[in-house]
Amino acid sequence: LRVAVLAGGISDEREISFSSGKNVMAALAEAGYTHVEMLDPADDDFLVKLSEGSYDVAFIALHGRGGEDGMIQSILEYLGIPYTGSGVIASACAADKDVAKAIYQRAGIPTARGITIKRDDDVCIADIVDEVGSECFVKPAVNGSSYGVTYVKDESKLLDALETAFECDEKALVEERLVGTEITVGVLGDPPRALPIVEILPQEGSEFYDLDVKYIDPTHVHRIPAAISPKDYHRAEEYAVAAHEALGCKGFSRSDFIVGEHGTTILETNTIPGMTDTSLFPDEARHAGMPFSAVCDELIHIALE
Ligand code: DAL
Ligand code: MG
Repeated sequence: LRVAVLAGGISDEREISFSSGKNVMAALAEAGYTHVEMLDPADDDFLVKLSEGSYDVAFIALHGRGGEDGMIQSILEYLGIPYTGSGVIASACAADKDVAKAIYQRAGIPTARGITIKRDDDVCIADIVDEVGSECFVKPAVNGSSYGVTYVKDESKLLDALETAFECDEKALVEERLVGTEITVGVLGDPPRALPIVEILPQEGSEFYDLDVKYIDPTHVHRIPAAISPKDYHRAEEYAVAAHEALGCKGFSRSDFIVGEHGTTILETNTIPGMTDTSLFPDEARHAGMPFSAVCDELIHIALE
């Protein structure tokens, strides 16, 4: 089989994608694939290489805009090249946190209270505070790895936080700050099954699981399986699979939740979870007894079914 591993790309998560791609290349070699090449969609000759490379399948190791939002998936559909992970529509719906939220709500999965604001909207701070409180998160609707996300402690910082979000996208979400334990649930396979749940342990000096903690500070610890009640654990597994199915995901996904007095609330679904050395999805699979090479192999098999 000739496999093209797509990594790099045009999003803010370009470097993270290269780390994911490097691990995927190594995993595929370990799984016995001999014809594996890495292609970067940001290269000028990418489309020529992709369409003329006689690839049997593409492994998409891209994150964020252009790679996780349906764009590259459309190109691959058009070229008739099977690819790993979710299709065009599921990718696009999951990538937009505002659209995803509507889909979660329709599927009965609890979401954070929030308001969606477009770049040209008139912003009324009092209305936002009424809806979500003065401590909140401001996020661009489309982006990943916490780029453009601000934790706002009081309303005087709201406008700046919205400006920051609008640098990434023309639509932003302002969401209530949920207090509780942050967990993330990988889903893998067809039919989809939940992997062991990761708990993200809060670190002194960082207010949420932000970019620095995700990739730069390796001392950040997570715990598998998450130390939450059996009831919360099962509910999170159920919601993660329900989110995967409601969005129409395929192959794999990873949904993030906060578990607290409010219950188990979904934050987002990543249709191409990080696969770097510090990423959570490969670790969850390892705890389920699956080396990352077996995960990549399964994803390719699903792509070719
Ligand atoms: N968006 C990053 C890659 C993740 O969710 O793991
Ligand atoms: Mg994400």
